[in-house]
Amino acid sequence: MTSSPSSRSRSKSLAAQSRGPHVVVGVCGGIAAYKACELIRRFTESGHDVRVVPTESALRFVGAATFAALSGNPVTTDVWTDVHEVPHVTLGRRADLIVVAPATADFLARMVIGRSDDLLTATLLTARCPIVIAPAMHTEMWEHPATRANVATLRDRGIVVLDPAVGRLTGADSGIGRLPEPDEIFRVARTVLARGPVTPDLAGRHVVVSAGGTREPLDPVRFLGNRSSGRQGYAIARAALARGAEVTLVSANAALFDPAGAKVVRVATAEEMRDAVIEAAASADAVVMAAAVADFRPAQRATSKVKKTDADPDPVALVRNPDILAEIATDRRRAGQVVVGFAAETDNVLDNGAKKLAAKQCDLMVVNEVGENRTFDAEHNSATILGADGSSTIVPEGSKEDLGHAIWDLVLARLS
Ligand code: C5P
Repeated sequence: MTSSPSSRSRSKSLAAQSRGPHVVVGVCGGIAAYKACELIRRFTESGHDVRVVPTESALRFVGAATFAALSGNPVTTDVWTDVHEVPHVTLGRRADLIVVAPATADFLARMVIGRSDDLLTATLLTARCPIVIAPAMHTEMWEHPATRANVATLRDRGIVVLDPAVGRLTGADSGIGRLPEPDEIFRVARTVLARGPVTPDLAGRHVVVSAGGTREPLDPVRFLGNRSSGRQGYAIARAALARGAEVTLVSANAALFDPAGAKVVRVATAEEMRDAVIEAAASADAVVMAAAVADFRPAQRATSKVKKTDADPDPVALVRNPDILAEIATDRRRAGQVVVGFAAETDNVLDNGAKKLAAKQCDLMVVNEVGENRTFDAEHNSATILGADGSSTIVPEGSKEDLGHAIWDLVLARLS
């Protein structure tokens, strides 16, 4: 099956524009196949050369013309089209990355036993590049021992298999089995492409990451808050997930998609964050406090909206919030636990960071410069990571996930 002539000509111009890495996007026959369109778009818009290889049943959900138009390349499901080009070998050898989203239970089973009865499975057998699989299916199918065993086998082979998200499934039912958001799959894929297949060196470890910025209410509609978007903490969580860790993400007011596979605990205030972090830390090998936690909160919280009056308002009295990082670091919840803090500074960055490391008694302090146009809500970050052992590691400007991996490298060295 191939794309129409009209989509072929547009295809050529799109394909000609993309000189970036070659990505094969496999699409299986599940209702979430429509979400693959958004993923394909992400890849093409960021300069990747995309070949979409759907299964026959995927085309019952989304037409070949859609995939061809979005990717700018012809779309084929079987090995009999363009036989002279030996497509499964060409595609597999040329690919820098293969992403299968959504992957069905049947596809996982076929991949485990090495079937090559369509172009997608045949391509996977010839490929030697990193592979990312994003399964989506009903909860019962995902939890079935056969699927569990297949996922374990694929992970053992070094394939990155994302855990599905929890949420609304095809019908009115909900549970684990939903395809992670395309943005989320794209981020994982981009990291794998940049770093190669990630070693699951955090497998068997439970880590806690705090992210976002706390909000301290003045009344039911107003709060004292800060500019943290949560992106850095989410990137740290994602990096840990990619390396096989069990991740609890304590998230304060971040408007971001849940990282695939993380247990996300949502909080609003510093006190709520403290309770969630302390509880999760009891079983954690490492705690990374990336959240911007308010040091103070209003002493009074009005139960109804404060009205504008003619008289000048009273000054807002503040009381101190618990310092979660200091509490965790001085009273370790688990022997050998590694505790990491963040020092976001506007000036005397390294000096202040070193003082904070000593004051809070944590093992590592990630020191970075912040300001109105720096770091907050940005895609990139740079930092110096100071160790309680006197070490200093400079992490140059890169993605927030790169900084996440640098943190986990240092945490891992201290865990082992
Ligand atoms: O000294 P400062 O509060 O700026 O230190 C920042 C670090 O401490 C961050 O890791 C932040 O998550 C943590 N923190 C905390 N509890 C607070 C304030 C900050 O855990 N109340």
